[in-house]
Amino acid sequence: MAPSPEGISKAAAVIGAGGLVGLPTETVYGLAADATNPVAVAAIYAAKGRPQFNPLIAHVLGAADAAREAMFCDRATALARAFWPGPLTLVLPRQKTGAVCDLACAGLATIGVRAPAHLVARALITAVGRPLAAPSANPSGRISPTSVQHLRDDALPGLDIVLDGGASALGLESSIVAVLPNEPLRLLREGAIPRATLEAIAGPLAAASEAVSAPGMLASHYAPRARLRLNALGLESGEYGIGFARYLRGAAMDLSPDGNLTEAAARLYGALRAADASGATIIAVAPIPEHGLGAAINDRLRRAAARD
Ligand code: TXA
Ligand code: MG
Repeated sequence: MAPSPEGISKAAAVIGAGGLVGLPTETVYGLAADATNPVAVAAIYAAKGRPQFNPLIAHVLGAADAAREAMFCDRATALARAFWPGPLTLVLPRQKTGAVCDLACAGLATIGVRAPAHLVARALITAVGRPLAAPSANPSGRISPTSVQHLRDDALPGLDIVLDGGASALGLESSIVAVLPNEPLRLLREGAIPRATLEAIAGPLAAASEAVSAPGMLASHYAPRARLRLNALGLESGEYGIGFARYLRGAAMDLSPDGNLTEAAARLYGALRAADASGATIIAVAPIPEHGLGAAINDRLRRAAARD
């Protein structure tokens, strides 16, 4: 549906009635519902086939709204100032008086909050007047959607309406930073903001720990149907090739012929989906440098390659 004023109010009515909306954001498309309505949140889990212990991000307009749901210390405030609206999710202690339901937080004492930059997402949050719970709009464990066509291809059950916000500009999920009392800042998920950019504001970021982690970061996430062969230097017969910086002769596509990691991030999920659609059983991917957004791209590729 076009994100016209009518489209937005239609989508807001769907959310208000406990329904699900395909939500464009600058990272990936989300599957949005009223975060304060446990029945609507349950419908998200059902549509994704997601294990219920996996908490959802509450999408808000900014720090003022987020502060009703989560406790901000100075470190969290500084990160929100620097990166909101934008592709940063903060995991913070939950406010006991918050409106987001327990089910959306999977019963945790913490909550993930993010203020997206995409104007359509912001218009819908404004029209609904409540936080939106929105995981990436893919079936659990599969590739996140970065276009309306991807949502059509996945055909999630119970998805009532999709707002068309064009191709996701960034193409990788938000970076997730946990800011919790008596804990170092932890980078729970590499994402659309390179680590060095976050660390310029926040100082060094520790890794996820056993106690503080993102439950949704399973090894087998983001998986295409085909198997992946990473760091491929040549193509074997029958393989679908995904190149980078013109490496991998004969590749079906190149994430960025100029070697631009931002462009590569934006095109990654579309490439994996195209590879699956080709019917190939093995996807060979050229080496991606580990710096900047390359770390997040490689993280996703390793998870996609991991099979239980
Ligand atoms: O870019 C994004 O973040 C997209 C768009 C739609 O906003 N959303 C997204 O949501 O990627 P999802 O549900 O696919 O991934 C959210 C991750 C999960 O791994 C989940 O475990 C983690 O965030 N998370 C959410 N709340 C958390 C919490 N309280 N503590 C630790 N991890 C949390
Ligand atoms: Mg996801």
